[in-house]
Amino acid sequence: MSNTRRPVDSAEADVVEVNPLFARPGESTELARFSIPDCESLPETAYQIVHDEVALDGNARLNLATFVGTWMDSHAEKLYADTFDKNLIDKDEYKATDAIEERCRIILADLWHAPEPRNTIGASTIGSSEACMLGGLALKRRWQHARRSVGKSSERPNLVMSSAVQVCWKKFCSYWDVEARIVSISEERKVLDGHDLRSYVDENTIGVVAVFGVTYTGMYEPVERIAAALDEIQASKGLDIPIHVDGATGAFVAPFIQPHITWDFRISRVASINVSSHKYGLVYPGLGWIVWRDQAALPEDLRFRVAYLGGETPTVGLSFTRPGAQVLLQYYLFLRLGRDGYQRVHQATQDVAQYLSREIAKMPQFELWSDGSDLPVLTWHLRKGRSYNWNQYHLSDRLRMKGWQVPTYPMPDDLTHLTVQRIVVRGGLSRDLAGALVADLHAEVGFLESLTAPIEALGERPGFHH
Ligand SMILES: Cc1ncc(COP(=O)(O)O)c(C=O)c1O
Repeated sequence: MSNTRRPVDSAEADVVEVNPLFARPGESTELARFSIPDCESLPETAYQIVHDEVALDGNARLNLATFVGTWMDSHAEKLYADTFDKNLIDKDEYKATDAIEERCRIILADLWHAPEPRNTIGASTIGSSEACMLGGLALKRRWQHARRSVGKSSERPNLVMSSAVQVCWKKFCSYWDVEARIVSISEERKVLDGHDLRSYVDENTIGVVAVFGVTYTGMYEPVERIAAALDEIQASKGLDIPIHVDGATGAFVAPFIQPHITWDFRISRVASINVSSHKYGLVYPGLGWIVWRDQAALPEDLRFRVAYLGGETPTVGLSFTRPGAQVLLQYYLFLRLGRDGYQRVHQATQDVAQYLSREIAKMPQFELWSDGSDLPVLTWHLRKGRSYNWNQYHLSDRLRMKGWQVPTYPMPDDLTHLTVQRIVVRGGLSRDLAGALVADLHAEVGFLESLTAPIEALGERPGFHH
């Protein structure tokens, strides 16, 4: 091993050094970083290198920025290890896995009150992004068929959504040539709620996206009110516009802890719903779902038939090979937790979110934007009307020094003057841990408030991307 000091940014170094503690006699102590090394390493050595490098990642338990599950129990991990060789697309070879995928989709359709869960159609996906692409494509294709059948142009489709949609919707519009009609959220209207919808929709509108669990704030868009606004538009203008519910987060929360909210297939205008299993479905990353309310909601020409069991199975999806193991993990959790288990887990999570909200609301420096009463997610900004020698980016940095990852970011277009911080509460953030976070928050705000001159505007960059 050379004693030469490595550049500070070791990612730029050409070689990976192997600590002499781990290198076995005769093994190379330096491995190329950006090309395949010439020689083999022992598995132990290769393992140690990769393991050590990712140890530098943040501590998942203290990552309050992500919606994505970072913990499963040991039985789930065993099942994962038992099944991570299964390719979901090999339906003929893995018939049982295929049957379980189908079963999970029906379970979700039932959870979301589809009139006939077994008559729904849908698929598991790599996450909500793929599911949203498919939901959007079905809206576009249905609209195109309807327009062509009456000899009208299908050249200029548009999709209506709030400015606070997750980036996957902007991708959808860009990748599939659909105009994004953006309804800006504001301090008065924090979510898309159907207000003034008639000035956004027209005969080229393929649908409206209702986000049930807004990524920026954790708030639910009121699907019922959006549907009611569209009912009025249909009555007056004759436009029958469907809704896709982006339930990436909320579709796994509300059925358990807010069953009184009507947001799903009980609303006849809701054509399709997506969800991420790897968020509040509590599964490790890599799994989402799309479910259409009935066969009519997914045009035939978006289904592909694969030969299977001497017959043909219709499939829909943007990818081909995908791991089957996460689907099995989802089914495991349905069995393991049941409705009651999901309810208890999410309720405990929401209790912690509301505890944090109350504590933050008591701090004179802050004003809550959302308080965890929808998703267990809270956002807050600096109270207006006084000056500060610091901003929330500085607070994020201070908290980071204690291990907490609490992102700071500007709100979307037309509200970018407002910078918020967000905590996504997940199962791992216990009430005790949340108490420790509150103590650290007080300590760091206390430090920042003691400054007698403004901190230089260093490091002011969003710590998070939606
Ligand atoms: C509302 C919403 N839609 C879609 C997505 C994309 O989900 P995924 O990361 O599962 O692709 C997210 C991710 O946070 C989200 O919050």
